[in-house]
Amino acid sequence: MNRGEYNILVIEDNPGDFALVEEFLLEQIESPRIKSAKSYAEARDLLNDQFHGFDVILLDLSLPDKTGILLIQDILEVAAGAAVIVLTGYSDLSFGVKSLSLGVSDYILKDELSSLSLYKSLVYGIERRRIITALEESEKRARNFAQQLNNAVEEERKGIAREIHDEFGQQLSGLKMLLASLKRSTSLGSDAETTIEAMVSDLDNSILTLRRIASELRPVLIDKLGLFAAIEWLAGEFKKKTGIGCDMYVDISQPTIGKMAEINVFRICQEAFTNIARHSGATNVTLKISNEDEGLFISIADNGKGMTEEALQKNLSMGLLNMKERANLIGAEIDIKSAPEKGTKIELKLGIHAEENISSR
Ligand SMILES: Nc1ncnc2c1ncn2[C@@H]1O[C@H](COP(=O)(O)OP(=O)(O)O)[C@@H](O)[C@H]1O
Ligand SMILES: [Mg+2]
Repeated sequence: MNRGEYNILVIEDNPGDFALVEEFLLEQIESPRIKSAKSYAEARDLLNDQFHGFDVILLDLSLPDKTGILLIQDILEVAAGAAVIVLTGYSDLSFGVKSLSLGVSDYILKDELSSLSLYKSLVYGIERRRIITALEESEKRARNFAQQLNNAVEEERKGIAREIHDEFGQQLSGLKMLLASLKRSTSLGSDAETTIEAMVSDLDNSILTLRRIASELRPVLIDKLGLFAAIEWLAGEFKKKTGIGCDMYVDISQPTIGKMAEINVFRICQEAFTNIARHSGATNVTLKISNEDEGLFISIADNGKGMTEEALQKNLSMGLLNMKERANLIGAEIDIKSAPEKGTKIELKLGIHAEENISSR
């Protein structure tokens, strides 16, 4: 006889079958807690009551108010961490496989049921459920950590960009003014004047470079005017720097997107442009922003040399991996398509299902 707290819900409308299952359970387990439900509605009410905290659900597949796949799906939705074992009178292998793929932990034919097989299935089911729950929690923690790391990096970049822009920029401008007043002093010869002019021009270049570095670290635009303006700026800089043409089509007005989603979408675009400049050999890029299924859809396509499926799948390359991670972080879908000599296309879709990310302005 096995001890241990077993909290079991048997969903079965046939009293004979229920009696059999109960008998089998009592044969193996010392004082199990067994509750019964004779319909889907009754089971749902019991499951919605947190108080019960079932470990395992034994489910008959033909109930008066619901049957089959639909019943399985609906029970799984309210199962709240309990393992679900299907007990059925019908032998249908493909149906069994399908129900397992939905997340059921076992599929047993009533004809083949014995007290031991039921007990084993129950124990394995509970253990598997426990492992899956632990895995899901660990995944959640990992994502949470990635999110915090991401935020910390962005905050730090923002801080450095501000320092560069405000402190350094001010100092250089101050220096420029001093040189201008020096140049105005009458006692200088023309040689000295020429040198000062050269210095001022160097300083101007340094100021521009600083501004550019600061913008690349953290575009002020994204905080002031939002995502679309920042992407436009990105495309403009890209054209200037590389001489590669960039056609931009924007079909929608800018939706209100959470800051975190905004910055991640921007970083994905930034990586796409950097890759095009570095690797593609393209002569033209097409950037489209539109709305598809009421979500935000961005596609960036180049007409460059593309890459093989193999290169695309190489998970070691940080840039592409990072794009996927960022998309994952904000619940967006990303599709990277490429073929040799056919160019590369990045498609990003931020759906409305991620309600914290998007809403119409
Ligand atoms: N637009 C593109 N066109 C052609 N090849 C690309 C493109 N983007 C990426 N690649 C290829 O994929 C590889 C991985 O890219 P990525 O992960 O960003 O790493 P990195 O840019 O640091 O090399 C690149 O080295 C390049 O060979
Ligand atoms: Mg890269």
